[in-house]
Amino acid sequence: MSTLTFPEGFLWGTATASYQIEGGADERGPSIWDDFCRWPGKVFEGQTGDVADDHYHRYREDVALMQSLHMKAYRFSISWPRVLPEGRGAVSEVGLGFYDRLVDALLEAGIIPFVTLYHWDLPSALQREGGWAARDTAQLFADYAAIVAKRLGDRVKHWITHNEPWVAAFLGHMMGIHAPGWRDLGLALQVGHHLLLSHGMAIPILREASGADAYVGITLNLSPIYPETDSLEDREAAHIADGFSNRWFLDPVFRGQYPQDMWQRFGPFVPRVVPGDMETISRAIDFLGVNYYTRSVVRAEPGAPLGFVGVRPEGEYTAMDWEVFPDGLRALLVRLHKDYAPKALYITENGCAYEDTLSEDGRVYDPQRIAYLRAHFASAHRAIQEGVPLKGYFVWSLMDNFEWSFGYSRRFGIVYVDYATLRRIPKESALFYAEVARTNAVEI
Ligand code: FCB
Repeated sequence: MSTLTFPEGFLWGTATASYQIEGGADERGPSIWDDFCRWPGKVFEGQTGDVADDHYHRYREDVALMQSLHMKAYRFSISWPRVLPEGRGAVSEVGLGFYDRLVDALLEAGIIPFVTLYHWDLPSALQREGGWAARDTAQLFADYAAIVAKRLGDRVKHWITHNEPWVAAFLGHMMGIHAPGWRDLGLALQVGHHLLLSHGMAIPILREASGADAYVGITLNLSPIYPETDSLEDREAAHIADGFSNRWFLDPVFRGQYPQDMWQRFGPFVPRVVPGDMETISRAIDFLGVNYYTRSVVRAEPGAPLGFVGVRPEGEYTAMDWEVFPDGLRALLVRLHKDYAPKALYITENGCAYEDTLSEDGRVYDPQRIAYLRAHFASAHRAIQEGVPLKGYFVWSLMDNFEWSFGYSRRFGIVYVDYATLRRIPKESALFYAEVARTNAVEI
């Protein structure tokens, strides 16, 4: 056995998102996920986030739980329709007050809040005006960011504008499997552009409200892409897949331009870009948030729309059918550092779903999750040794929750939620993780 010690001050935490845990749905305005859940066939067994983990009413218990697990930071998202039920106009004092109290509770517990402003729950009222396909929505997001930052900015210093704009754009508007459920490539690319634009617009607003010690970033879902074989065709396919999943968002944020090769490939579907947009989008950020779950392996397929298809290599898989591939995290971080050189990086999500059950002795044994986390922590540690300025790590997720189109059928938590009683039971992985956080080290 050896011990891998992390840099002093490394932030260990967990991540969640408003729609997935809060519940309290009748105490806020409706969002596109409320609507999507009611669209027959879209979400597992028609489940919804109406109650979820009822975190809205139990946040004190949840903060105490995090404190007992030695967590140093907590990443959560704000529900836009809880703050602005109509998406704009009248602010709900009850809604904003909830986040105000949550932030105070975290700080009292010695836990640093990392606030995500948008984790996919757009107010339904704004969807009726076109949602993210409408350019005005970017300005409305900036207005919403200003309201939140004005209220919380004296205490919240870490801001994440968006969570996984790639997923919001493509799963929501091209594949139709996330809210709002459209299937249109051109629309998806335009939505992606508006999400990026709104990110850039919010940056100076957040800095102004949070002061000189504000840290502003964005969270992207990123996957290193591997060619199935070493052939020229497969390597080219991997480059295209990288352009689609990674560079399409990284290049605008860090280089102020869309990747030229992809721009050409998208042909007539490219988004409308107004002069000045790319400057706004590429405003300096303080950190990049990385959500990493697995790698992708692709091969060339001349008949496929972008010339590649995914392949499923032999290996170990989680309950999401995602390959367990820890070295992909190191490879990804090293590549991001080399190609884009963000000032700092955080793993803003990493974790796994397994079929966890409550044992008769009242415990939840999840050795596969412990193995998964241990291997990924070790991979992150190697990246740090290779020079990557990685500053913290948020495990997805604090507790089991509403996993989008999979409803409650996938458990990602380090804390088990008994949905019949809403009782929280730390899994064995939570105890393992608490020890990592307490000692700032992992045994391998
Ligand atoms: C990410 C999402 C997060 C969660 C995990 C499993 O794409 O950001 O909300 O669903 O996947």
